[in-house]
Amino acid sequence: MLVLYRMYKQNPTFLKDPNFYHAISQPYSLMSIIDPVEHRARRELVAPFFSKRAIYALDGFLWSKIERFCLRITECMGQPVMLQDGFHSLTVDIISTYLFGKPFGMLDEPGFNGQHIRNMEKLIVNIPMCKHFPILRKLALKLPMPIAMRIAPGFAYMAEICTGIVKELLDLRAKETSLDEKASVSKSVTGEDSGLIHQTIYHALLDQSGLAAKGKRAPDMQELIDESILFLSAGTDTSSFTLTIAVYHILSNPSILLKLQQELAELKESCGDQKPSLKAIEKLPYLAGVVKESIRLSHGAPGRLPRVVPSTGANVGNVYLPPGTVVTMCCYYIDLNADIYPEPFKFLPERWLVNPPAEKWFLPFSKGSRSCIGMNLVYAEISMTLAALFMKFDLKLYQTGPKEMEWRDYGLPMTNGHLRVTATPRE
Ligand code: HEM
Repeated sequence: MLVLYRMYKQNPTFLKDPNFYHAISQPYSLMSIIDPVEHRARRELVAPFFSKRAIYALDGFLWSKIERFCLRITECMGQPVMLQDGFHSLTVDIISTYLFGKPFGMLDEPGFNGQHIRNMEKLIVNIPMCKHFPILRKLALKLPMPIAMRIAPGFAYMAEICTGIVKELLDLRAKETSLDEKASVSKSVTGEDSGLIHQTIYHALLDQSGLAAKGKRAPDMQELIDESILFLSAGTDTSSFTLTIAVYHILSNPSILLKLQQELAELKESCGDQKPSLKAIEKLPYLAGVVKESIRLSHGAPGRLPRVVPSTGANVGNVYLPPGTVVTMCCYYIDLNADIYPEPFKFLPERWLVNPPAEKWFLPFSKGSRSCIGMNLVYAEISMTLAALFMKFDLKLYQTGPKEMEWRDYGLPMTNGHLRVTATPRE
């Protein structure tokens, strides 16, 4: 444990391994910046958007997206719904609106079968290949689109759309600054939910004069592109995969479903016609156990997160590791350690209610200064979406079992099949 905390701590001396991170992710994005000082400066720019306070302020905005998602399910009553794609569409529309002020419109796609969702799957499948042959991702970003789409289609597609969006935002910004600076604040936040978001992330990142006044450097164009690719990938498939795991286990365990429905029925009664607030939802103990268990069993980044031994070398137990040695840990082994979580493969929300495992062992978001920045958003998305789904619908699994839900590690986990359900309105 001490070794682990030495590797993944607040002021890290074990830095990220560039050979790995620059192969699988954009080199100028928050995830892949190696230098701690540069990383801290970038993290400070975006962290305020993911604080607990900022996420509470998104309550109305998150409800607007979740309601739209539920409406789409209502339109398919009695027919099988590709819920997994629905969750992905929901998280894409949430983060695209929060980033740029406009949703990608995935929740409006028939059958939640948007082209962007299909291309994102390609990106995940590309990750292992690019990990072993880093040249492929670089080539995909340099060669003409038709060739790039053959080499690494997911990365090529994301680079193209994110470059287009960032150029558009920079143009808009240039026009606005030449007009009235004050008016630009409201103009930059366009789109259907604009009134519900105080400020979008890219609006803040593009505000060069505002950042300079605070002594901060605004990211350049390549950094803005890399950051958008990162947030659109790390911030969507992860939460939607966790929602998939949650719903599959809830619907496979009638006693869990019943306890959850009872708790949500009480909440619904206490709220009357009002939608429950995120704060009220978070206080539900059983739902909180369901959310934690879903995060544990979905292992957001199941594989290795490599770090490099510093120039001083390091002693690990009785072994001396010379400088430059690449070391790593996998949260997968901790998430499924039977000493911490008895019957580790079982979905047991109760384990979080009485004598819960020590918080120090809960590592799906990693630890220290490189831990997940989106953690508060994840908890909000998952608890609010599950609350809405199980308050509004009676769901049944449709042609979905252990075989479909078996997953592989592509850097991010991906199931072999799809989560499908049928829905009827809940009385
Ligand atoms: C269940 C959902 C999620 C899990 C389990 C998860 C897990 C993780 C983990 C383990 C890391 C550290 C990776 C490393 O050390 O290389 C990480 C980093 C990161 N995550 Fe998440 N994540 C989730 C959702 C999200 C969401 C929703 C967002 C954004 C909206 C996000 C944005 C990021 C970013 C930007 C980083 C890099 C942080 C840095 O290096 O400063 N993640 N995440």
